[in-house]
Amino acid sequence: MADKKVIAVLGATGAQGGGLVRAILAHPDGPFKARAVTRDVTSEKARALADAGAEVVAADVDDEASLVRAFSGAHGAFCVTFFWAHFSPERELAEAASMARAVRTAGVSHAIWSTLEDTRKFMSLDDPRMPTLMGKYKVPHFDCKGEADAFFLASGVPATLLRTSFYWENFIYFGSGPKPGPDGTLTLTYPMGSAKLPGIATEDIGRSAYAIFKAGPAGVDQTVGIAGDHSTLDEIAAAFTRALGRPVRYQEVEPEVYRSFGFPGADDLGNMFQFKRDFNAEFCGARDLTKARALNPGMLTLDQWLARNAGRVPLE
Ligand SMILES: NC(=O)c1ccc[n+]([C@@H]2O[C@H](COP(=O)([O-])OP(=O)(O)OC[C@H]3O[C@@H](n4cnc5c(N)ncnc54)[C@H](OP(=O)(O)O)[C@@H]3O)[C@@H](O)[C@H]2O)c1
Repeated sequence: MADKKVIAVLGATGAQGGGLVRAILAHPDGPFKARAVTRDVTSEKARALADAGAEVVAADVDDEASLVRAFSGAHGAFCVTFFWAHFSPERELAEAASMARAVRTAGVSHAIWSTLEDTRKFMSLDDPRMPTLMGKYKVPHFDCKGEADAFFLASGVPATLLRTSFYWENFIYFGSGPKPGPDGTLTLTYPMGSAKLPGIATEDIGRSAYAIFKAGPAGVDQTVGIAGDHSTLDEIAAAFTRALGRPVRYQEVEPEVYRSFGFPGADDLGNMFQFKRDFNAEFCGARDLTKARALNPGMLTLDQWLARNAGRVPLE
């Protein structure tokens, strides 16, 4: 245990970071030990991680000195930001900049930055296909992450940019699952046309990050895209139909209709789905399924995820 390398994990009580901590703990004979970073070391989730064998330390992504302390002595750092906690791309950029400085100050050997595409590299702000949001973004929660890639690449610390995918857990926790339509039929309402939506089980993000730390920065591409499946919404509806044993259909809506749904972030997500639809070959191509499965051979498919989780998806 003493000679194991520490991996400091931001968001350790959440989806991505939690998956990585569990992946490290699942390999007691592996090269790493987990340092779980949380704002509150006394919370139930933090104590559960400590009970499971992780070191648990306090830090806040808005406090750079606390990040330096959390990363000190660590071999690796898993860096993720929490857009939906504040809906501010500027704040997310500032947090990522702090993380990139902190990995350097702490002398970490390998950082993973959980990122997404800067969609402004695919279309200019005056592109009429979708509205510009918050003054200078097309998909704010994507664009700021992609913009922050440069901080990590310039940090001087070997960094892997990990491009994640739509969590299938959104069907459980984010209100994105099938809901009864006007005739009572369970309906998935998305503005994706017949394009494929790369998706992933959140635990597989952590397992992939574990494999990346194990391979080391020289053992993987600088940018790694991961997904468990690329599925059209008709294919997702068919998979739900099989898993639930009752019909689920796909209701296609236009992105402008989705943007007008009125829930917080609907405009950002409407643009996000439209980006994934309109740049589908590029978006799916950046998440090669064969490569992702070579990195993490246990990567779940959608059918496998549904076999385990369909009963947890709220249908009202
Ligand atoms: N939903 C999707 O489909 C999807 C897909 C790809 C990427 N993403 C991105 O994933 C990111 C979120 O990651 P996640 O889903 O793993 O998060 P999550 O499950 O919401 O967990 C967030 C954890 O981060 C911690 N946290 C929140 N604010 C913090 C702060 N100021 N300082 C330190 N820790 C803080 C919290 O832990 P404590 O309370 O213990 O401090 C919380 O448990 C977002 O930026 C989102 O855009 C989402």
